[in-house]
Amino acid sequence: MNTPICDFVRGYAAKQPLRLHMPGHKGVGPLGVEALDITEIPGADVLYAPDGIIAESESNAAALFGSAKTVYSTEGSSLCIRAMLYLAQLWAKAQGRKPFVLAGRNAHKTFLSAVALLDLDVGWLSSEGEKQSVVSCVVRAESLDHRLSAMAEKPIAVYITSPDYLGNISEIAALSAVCHQYGALLLVDNAHGAYLHFMSTPRHPLDLGADLCCDSAHKTLGVLTGGAYLHLAKSAPPMLRDAANRAMALFASTSPSYLILQSLDAANAALSDYCIEDIMSTSRRTASLRAALAAEGWTLTGDEPLKLTLSTKPRGYTGVEVAALLERERIYCEFADPDYLVWMVSPQTPESTYDVLLNALRSIPPRSPITDTPPMPGHAEHVLSPRESMLAPSETLPVEQSIGRVLASPGVSCPPAVPIVVCGEQIDEAAVNAFRYYGIDRIEVVREAIIAVNADNISVAGAIHAAAWQASHRSFCTQEFLASHTPERQTGYLREKLLRGSRIFLLLDGSPVALVSVTGSLIEDLYVLPDCQNRGFGTKLLRHAIQQCDDTPTLWILENNTGAARLYERMGFVPTGQRHSFGQLDEIEYQLT
Ligand SMILES: Cc1ncc(COP(=O)(O)O)c(C=O)c1O
Repeated sequence: MNTPICDFVRGYAAKQPLRLHMPGHKGVGPLGVEALDITEIPGADVLYAPDGIIAESESNAAALFGSAKTVYSTEGSSLCIRAMLYLAQLWAKAQGRKPFVLAGRNAHKTFLSAVALLDLDVGWLSSEGEKQSVVSCVVRAESLDHRLSAMAEKPIAVYITSPDYLGNISEIAALSAVCHQYGALLLVDNAHGAYLHFMSTPRHPLDLGADLCCDSAHKTLGVLTGGAYLHLAKSAPPMLRDAANRAMALFASTSPSYLILQSLDAANAALSDYCIEDIMSTSRRTASLRAALAAEGWTLTGDEPLKLTLSTKPRGYTGVEVAALLERERIYCEFADPDYLVWMVSPQTPESTYDVLLNALRSIPPRSPITDTPPMPGHAEHVLSPRESMLAPSETLPVEQSIGRVLASPGVSCPPAVPIVVCGEQIDEAAVNAFRYYGIDRIEVVREAIIAVNADNISVAGAIHAAAWQASHRSFCTQEFLASHTPERQTGYLREKLLRGSRIFLLLDGSPVALVSVTGSLIEDLYVLPDCQNRGFGTKLLRHAIQQCDDTPTLWILENNTGAARLYERMGFVPTGQRHSFGQLDEIEYQLT
């Protein structure tokens, strides 16, 4: 297979040109590679509007992977993930559908920042069976089928991370069949699995029915760090192929690294020449090391052919401890946490490595097994969307002080960037335990925000409504009547209002403290949690509600509610003279002058 980008750049460097263009090193420098580091000069093509050497090289890659189109990234899979989600959003628009994506809960943090940038709706798929770690999330086709069949509004796409960091590969073919049955695209974060196409039985997501996927070529192929592919399958809607470059350009730098582009280009030739046998022999070598380690009493997990994942606690060590012991022997892993240790090999791994690793592990004596299991944060209350939480003012707190607060940052992750709690979720004790377990001491939480109430966070609004309603009616209602206003009942009341077209807003001061509803120009349900009154929250929320009104803001208050009357009058509301009877008390109408 030819290498047009490498050929062009080498040819240019050989001319010993006068480089009166970027970059500033002018082809010389301490790394020794500067002569090959160029920018988009004439003849070098333009990465996201290619019609020359880059277009040719990308066509080579597409032919190798069997895609309808392959686009290069010099900014990793992170860029491709943003582009995939943008394409899913474009597809939703074209279909007149909601941009709603259902994602495995172990999505990389880039997924969350892309969701926030694009303001997508996300639903989460949780792992089945006993969960190994927050890093993994095994989604089975059968349960995806149940979930999708029960949804009135189907997602535009399902997003799966496979292989995951621990080397678990999902049943992509079956998941793809289910997605297509319900009109959803299957998007796969295949950052760890570019090589899977080059197995004797190909296992790459494109081979198994994924519509879009990203591969970090740099993670498993002989490509410089940053080199990645966005692949569009032949099954993907043709309009997405046409939009793929635009999608990448939207998020990418305008100065792509030509070193990385050459590396991707050269990989095409290498992959076409020798690849399958090399990868299969590396896979066999890895399998025999896996068997030898199991025979030595080590516990292994995951089924990815070029990854070795040790579950270290049965041997009496944490993953981090074993990693530290091996570093003394100059053996460096990809990843270690309290439970696991992961090594990645490739055809470039020297043959001697396998024996060195086996001998080093043999020399670590077994101890009494460590029996504790990693904490699994449960399903935290969803308060804000990822976008709302990331754009809200935030503050950093020690994790111990964060219970009840709403997470603002997508970066609170265990080492491989898998969020422990999703930003926008309320932090509970289980989450704090998980933060501590993974060594996270401080986190960023939302300071203050006003957000719209929706189906996801309505129970939070219901709980505030119940607590504040009970407190404000305690002095003149019976105990029984008060007790009947439970959070569930008030949630139901608010849900009805939403269905009838009202809008409801929550004010967060770190955690949710107040709510209000607006129906046309009628303001109702202004409630502040009893402990949080007289701190200006009611005033802020009322101001917000006024801005939402279609016409002259109007509200009704009970005649005995003198505190509320003072607040409204201060804001410019005056009684209209209208009143109606509400049990033994009258309600009085106020309007903004
Ligand atoms: C599962 C997964 N997805 C996406 C990424 C981001 O890939 P990149 O580093 O190529 O941007 C990573 C990075 O480690 C990852 O592990």
